[in-house]
Amino acid sequence: IPVDSFDLVIFGGTGDLARRKILPGLFRRFRSGQMPAEARIIGAARSDMDDAGYRQMIREAIAEFGSEEKNDAGGIDAFLGRLHYVAIDATGDGGWSQLRDLMRDGVIRAFYFSVAPSLFGALAERLHQHGIADASSRIVVEKPFGRDLASAKALNATLAEHFDEGQIYRIDHYLGKETVQNLMAVRFGNVLFEPLWNSHYIDHIQITVAETVGVTGRGSYYDKSGAMRDMVQNHLMQLLCLIAMEPPSTYDADTVRDEKLKVIRALQPVEPHQIVRGQYEASQDGPSYRDDAENPRSFTESFLALKCHIANWRWAKVPFYIRTGKRMKARSSEIAVVFKDLGHTIFEGDTARHRNILSIRLQPNEGMDLQVTIKEPGPGGMRLVDVPLDMTFADALGPDREDAPDAYERLIMDVIRGNQTLFMRGDEVEAAWAWTDPIIEGWEARNDVPKLYDAGTAGPEDAMMLMHRDGRRWREIKG
Ligand code: BG6
Repeated sequence: IPVDSFDLVIFGGTGDLARRKILPGLFRRFRSGQMPAEARIIGAARSDMDDAGYRQMIREAIAEFGSEEKNDAGGIDAFLGRLHYVAIDATGDGGWSQLRDLMRDGVIRAFYFSVAPSLFGALAERLHQHGIADASSRIVVEKPFGRDLASAKALNATLAEHFDEGQIYRIDHYLGKETVQNLMAVRFGNVLFEPLWNSHYIDHIQITVAETVGVTGRGSYYDKSGAMRDMVQNHLMQLLCLIAMEPPSTYDADTVRDEKLKVIRALQPVEPHQIVRGQYEASQDGPSYRDDAENPRSFTESFLALKCHIANWRWAKVPFYIRTGKRMKARSSEIAVVFKDLGHTIFEGDTARHRNILSIRLQPNEGMDLQVTIKEPGPGGMRLVDVPLDMTFADALGPDREDAPDAYERLIMDVIRGNQTLFMRGDEVEAAWAWTDPIIEGWEARNDVPKLYDAGTAGPEDAMMLMHRDGRRWREIKG
């Protein structure tokens, strides 16, 4: 179904995110018929360029970063015809009146701030000063949304001077992933799981987001962030919220976000011995972090594992173990809900520990499996064995339909639809920083040195110990 017509202005329209994700994504929505034929996309950036130059740049970006759709030459021409370009001076006056003249009346106006957060205030102010944005306009902002609570508050305050919370779309692209939304479908669309979803039945929960990529080419950003700011404060936090939140009474933006916020606020502080920071070392699988980041003395973590608790009735004493890292042995994101042991067995001689485990694979090979215990076939009495009830979504539902949107595409269309459910609210972001700040400050105060791990492995040995000393173990990282 096409969304309503829109003019979308992308500040930072020549940047990496615009070329890699936003424009190829919009092209796919255009091809699927979801982007109305007369909708317009206006790239705005510092460089001097005309429409033709911008269209050529995006043609090349689609050729480089688009998937199968890049062969649709006719479609590309039609799409490029929807593109315009304005050279703009974010902190001065240049370009703003041209931008105003380009915007049409009577369509949705959306402004994507794909620029450094230090420019958010200037852009917001000029959009109003030049009469380009009004009370029905929307703005989209990217992470990093601040680097601690104080800077996030300052950013929220700056945006709030010009826009209501209902106009601000803070992107966390994990929320746009199909399988991440499936977490809610699984929990709240089945009678099977929710009655067991608590400390009576669940032993612990593991969240793993393992990547094989290093930080090559983005060291200057990453080295100042590390895994905590880059992944945990946002993406893993969002996963944790969706797994742990109370059922919202309806699936609307604020009801869902209220429940997520309660989870973040209930997170207990984490003690230093419950955290393992790691940094990859060179191995046959790749260079060292310090080489990748071009900082020979860096103490930034490229890996983080931690154990945390949510102080509420549902999750009393249930540990959540989360880990994420770069240059690990496989790209694999998984959430595993590990249920408790049976208190008693009636099968004599069965001494093995049988556990039901619900695992939800976010990527790759999206799907879920439920480990159940059954009788091993054949003679030999009641010997039990654990087997997976495996459902790969592509098998169950058919392989990816060509028009299935990826995370960015879905989220941009949600902006146009005015649906904020999959966007972070200002208070959520602040609460997440309020939890991470003391942890980071602790490292800084102690001059914490990350543990080394070989590129291409499952992270430092100490991360294994974090689990082992609780009598538990991490799930294997399988691509
Ligand atoms: C980004 C991080 O937000 O997410 C990157 O800045 C990370 O460091 C990326 O690689 C992971 O996203 P995905 O969709 O590839 O899992």
